[in-house]
Amino acid sequence: MATWNLEETRHHLLICNGGSCMKQQADEVTQAIRDEISALGAKKQIHTTRTRCNGRCTDACVVIAYPEGVWYKEMTPELGRELVRKQLAGERLEEHTVYSYDRRFIATGRSVAGKDKPTS
Ligand code: FES
Repeated sequence: MATWNLEETRHHLLICNGGSCMKQQADEVTQAIRDEISALGAKKQIHTTRTRCNGRCTDACVVIAYPEGVWYKEMTPELGRELVRKQLAGERLEEHTVYSYDRRFIATGRSVAGKDKPTS
């Protein structure tokens, strides 16, 4: 198990690697996000974790960004790279935001009521 110094950690990206998301490039999204973090020298600022199903399979591939609590849908490798740049700039991928804890952005086309059930 890795242990790292948390003093500079400001962001945590939870990248869904559940079954539905894996069918929608989750592995490639994960690698693109990690590659962009490395390319920008931001390993100390952004931590990533692969998760199991996050319960929003119809939004695959799902990425959740903390500390803001922003849920992103239909992520691609290119969007993953853009997300890293946005996180570091204090911005969001508005077009792919499903929900955020501060409700600054609400879903553009799908309910946030939680009727979608996980399929994996
Ligand atoms: S497999 Fe990713 S949200 Fe269900």
